[in-house]
Amino acid sequence: MKTYLVTGGAGFIGSNFVIYMLNKYSDVKIINVDKLTYAGNLENLKSVESNPNYVFVQADICDKEAIQSLFDQYDIDYVVNFAAESHVDRSITNPEIFVQTNVLGTVNLLNIAKNAWAVGDDQYKDGVKFMQVSTDEVYGSLGAEGFFMETTPLDPHSPYSSSKASADLFVKAYSDTYKLPVNITRCSNNYGPYQFPEKLIPLMINNTLQHKELPIYGDGMQIRDWLYVEDHCKAIDMVVRGGKLGEVYNVGGHNERPNIVIVKTILEYVKENVDPAVGEHMMKHVADRKGHDRRYGIDPEKIKRDLGWYPETTFEVGIKKTIQWYLNHKEWMENVTSGAYQEYYQRMYSNR
Ligand code: NAD
Ligand code: TYD
Repeated sequence: MKTYLVTGGAGFIGSNFVIYMLNKYSDVKIINVDKLTYAGNLENLKSVESNPNYVFVQADICDKEAIQSLFDQYDIDYVVNFAAESHVDRSITNPEIFVQTNVLGTVNLLNIAKNAWAVGDDQYKDGVKFMQVSTDEVYGSLGAEGFFMETTPLDPHSPYSSSKASADLFVKAYSDTYKLPVNITRCSNNYGPYQFPEKLIPLMINNTLQHKELPIYGDGMQIRDWLYVEDHCKAIDMVVRGGKLGEVYNVGGHNERPNIVIVKTILEYVKENVDPAVGEHMMKHVADRKGHDRRYGIDPEKIKRDLGWYPETTFEVGIKKTIQWYLNHKEWMENVTSGAYQEYYQRMYSNR
């Protein structure tokens, strides 16, 4: 039995990971620690909440006592750190919380894990690992050519990506200085079930279904490299189990699309299958994001070659599954878009 301390497991990728792991293995125990910010939602975990191998604890990863008590109480083998403030637009208006959670929270986890796992100077219990879930955004922005490799220098631009790059450097420092067993994964944009509708794909699906304007930042020709969330979960599982200590692994499936193509794809599907009244007249070009990165594109050769990972879901299949999931979970969307979301949406989009 391996025990995972999963942080941020009530968020989008974290909840998909918890469900993926508990469905795949009967010999893993998951301790999910989440602060339940606006992005955390226990509704995501309904299907596993009565699983005897699953425990939920509401706590902040910055809280030393709360995290220490989890290490005292459970025999933790792996930390998988998803907990983060994750939205670039929010980081532009309020960077401090990104430093707090993404940088200081990660350092707190590293420190407590290091002390709890130590069995001697620079020596740790057998088989333990700290797994940092990072992003390709730490590499900055690409021109028309080339891809991000693990050796690409870090060049973050937004407060979000700067906080993630900073966290990555602390993880590296704990590996280099204290020999803490670590891995870092850097993944491209994820999409799929349970993604909060502040991010491009669920926001556009929700607005389309609600007959609201579809706000496209700038010319809409910015490119993201889309990965179905379950393929990301598979990669994390493989890196935790088989990743070479101290290494970084990029995760992506060569699914680059300009934003405007994503929006048109959603519109087409909804028009054909759900509501003939929707269409491109709903698209509205609005003021661009400050410092907007133009293109992200991952070179996933290392994780493919060393660990045998490959993405199973093509974008064409994944986007249909995703739209269908939101159509089948209207109540989930209603719940997450009531209250504070309305205020957020007004603030972000009303004068754009
Ligand atoms: P999310 O915003 O959906 O979820 C974040 C979760 O962390 C929420 O449940 C929230 O309650 C929790 N959280 C926030 N602050 C916390 C704190 N101080 N203590 C404890 N819990 C806290 O994010 P996501 O999209 O699921 O991303 C998860 C991780 O993956 C992040 O580290 C993000 O940087 C990384 N990542 C995301 C993407 C993507 O496309 N979404 C791509 C690459 C990497
Ligand atoms: P987002 O989902 O916020 O992810 P990230 O910025 O981390 O890549 O945005 C994806 C792309 O979509 C990005 O280029 C910004 C753009 N975008 C819009 O054009 N309109 C929107 O309303 C949102 C949320 C994003």
